[in-house]
Amino acid sequence: MKFFIDTANLNEIREAQDLGVLDGVTTNPSLMAKEGITGGQNILKHYKDICNIVDDNVSAEVIATDFETMVEEGKALAGIDDKIVVKIPMIKDGVKAIAALTAEGIRTNCTLIFNAGQAILAAKAGADYVSPFIGRLDDVGSDGLALIAQIASIYDNYTFETEILAASIRHNMHLIQCAEIGADVATCPWSVITGLLDHPLTDSGLEKFLADYKKGNK
Ligand code: E4P
Repeated sequence: MKFFIDTANLNEIREAQDLGVLDGVTTNPSLMAKEGITGGQNILKHYKDICNIVDDNVSAEVIATDFETMVEEGKALAGIDDKIVVKIPMIKDGVKAIAALTAEGIRTNCTLIFNAGQAILAAKAGADYVSPFIGRLDDVGSDGLALIAQIASIYDNYTFETEILAASIRHNMHLIQCAEIGADVATCPWSVITGLLDHPLTDSGLEKFLADYKKGNK
């Protein structure tokens, strides 16, 4: 399973990279705004800064919603660095843009996936990744994890190479259950990644080992 971090915060990205478990980064316009990154050139520079930290897979989202401008923006984003994966929303022109960018060898991540039909369409268009938003589905009383399982079972019936990128992950159990289902990638906030470290028995066990070592080595 690949681990992506879902943030535009450079310090968090550096920390996750230093941990040695990071395979990529996802951002979106809301995450960029949260970091105060605004304006075309600043945004492009920020993507380059992220690419300079990680090894691959930096999702950069287009803002346009019409086919021609999405493709134009997608090409500009892909031109920043080979590590860029162009993130395109699941709308009609987005599907067309995914097909067009794929034909040019540009990697894409189809975002805002909320049902299996959308995931099938994105895979047919050639998306490298589909991003089902499981937390947002849970928020409205649907079952986000059930969608991951449904997409995994559909993709297994065919030869789609599209990877399932579980997004909108809110807590450890989301991530663990995505791994059980077989999601190819999980993108998580830094707090969820570090939360995987925690167990009170680990803390008390280590405390006891160190105390016993000290006793025996006075
Ligand atoms: C994924 O690519 C999105 O950036 C993200 O996971 C959305 O998560 P949210 O629902 O917590 O905003």
